[in-house]
Order: sequence, then C-alpha cells, then structure tokens
Amino acid sequence: MDKRLTVRDIRKKKLINNDQEPIVSLVCYTAQMARLVNDHIDVILVGDSLGMTIYGYSNTLSVTLDMMINHGAAVVRSTTKPHIVIDMPFGSYEESPEQAFRSASKIIRDTGAQSVKLEGGEEFADTILFLTQRGIPVMGHIGLMPQRIQTLGGFFTQGKTDKESNKLLNDAKTISEAGAFSMVVEAVPEEVGTNITKNVKVPTIGIGGGRNCDGQILVSHDILNLYGEFTPKFVKKYGKIDENIVAAIKNYSQEVKNKKFPSENNIFLINK
Ligand code: KIV
Repeated sequence: MDKRLTVRDIRKKKLINNDQEPIVSLVCYTAQMARLVNDHIDVILVGDSLGMTIYGYSNTLSVTLDMMINHGAAVVRSTTKPHIVIDMPFGSYEESPEQAFRSASKIIRDTGAQSVKLEGGEEFADTILFLTQRGIPVMGHIGLMPQRIQTLGGFFTQGKTDKESNKLLNDAKTISEAGAFSMVVEAVPEEVGTNITKNVKVPTIGIGGGRNCDGQILVSHDILNLYGEFTPKFVKKYGKIDENIVAAIKNYSQEVKNKKFPSENNIFLINK
C-alpha cells in the first residue's frame, strides 16, 4: 500500500529552505475524480466549493458537515497517495474552539482524512491552537475567504492596499505560529503572496497568490471546464471535458433515436 503524505512531509516542502518542486494540490470531490488524480497530486482538498460546482448553489454558505463528510469519505476511499484535507463548512467552527473540535473530530473520524482546513486569520488563532494541540492538523486559508461573501459583497482580490496587505501578513504569521501546518492564500497580488511566503515558516499554497508560493492549488472542475458559471483570472483551463461529455451524450441520443443502440453487442439472448 502507498504511504500518504503526512503534515510532516508537507511542512518540509517549504521552498525557501531548499530547492524542491512546489506542492501540487487540487480540489476534488468525488471518488471518480480522486481515482484519476491519485498518482499526480500531493494534496487533495475536498473543498466546500462543492456547494457551487456540484450542488449548484451561488456560494458556499449552504454546505453542511454531512455534505463534506460524504464527499470526503469518497475521496479518501478512492486514493492511496495524496494527503487529504477536508474543508470545515460555514457555521461548523466559528462559534468556539470547542465547536470546531466537535466538527473537525467528526470529519476526521468519519472520513479518514488527515487534516481539515478553515478560513480565517488572527481571529481563529485560538481555534487552530486548540485543534492542533488535540491532534487535528489544520490548514489555514487567508486572502479571499469565500465564506465571508456576505460581508465582502463579492469575490474580490484582497490585500491591494498597504493596510490590507499588512493585515494579511499578520494573519499569516499568527496562524502559522498557532500551529497551522500550511495555508491557502487566495486571490492576492503576487507581491503580497511572495511577502507572506517569505515571512511564514509553513508552506503557502496559492490560488491566485502568484508564482512564488510554496505550492499551487486549483479546482478540478475549473481546470477541466466543468463549471461554467464564473471563471476567475487565476484559473487556467487545462481541458474542455464538457465538450467531450456533450458530444458523447448527443451521440447516444442520436443512436437511440435512430435505433442504432442497442446493437447486437449490447443485448442478451436466451440461448447465448
Ligand atoms: O473550497 C475550495 O475549493 C477552496 C479552494 C478555493 C482553495 O477552498
């Protein structure tokens, strides 16, 4: 059996300390996708963006603990190598460190994943400390935090002013010191992503965080063109799987209508 990447392995991938390759991370939600990416990815995040990409909501706020657990368990069952991180959904951790521990321990227990991720800076340092001291590794998430959509008023680039970028740096340092083993840095100017990466001890994983983060993460549905609602600038499309799906379905539909399907290859006969 392959050995999964541990938080120790991931911490060692801080690029500034040595000359290794950046951490390759991907957001995946299903058994089928997880099986396909198993050999090519260091870290799989089962992200709460599944609320938008899979369930058709306009933001991530309706995602529940049960949704994360069901998808997380499917991804864990279908992989052997990557480190699996599961997002803590909105409302499952903000109230208190104790509430966060109840939710995170259920996620880890019911999925078999190695760690959880939560969105937030300095205001969640106590929670991150509480979880890590009790055996739950935490990945942080700063910059654009989609669970704050209602207070932000939209999905905008963060850290563009000195005040904002100083706050982000302080958040990054504080959650790193509280015990986060790595952090997602989302939608910030490259200079800000670089400055954070240089000044924190744990790896940064950028999504729109520029070229100098210790790793990169994108959403599988975005890079395969399976989510058409909205494409942020930081997304690169590596395939147009939607076109293959539509072509195959049109072909099937046509063949049923023309009575070409089923053919003799697809039927059962009593005597054969
Ligand atoms: O839920 C998600 O897909 C994420 C990524 C944007 C990092 O948190």
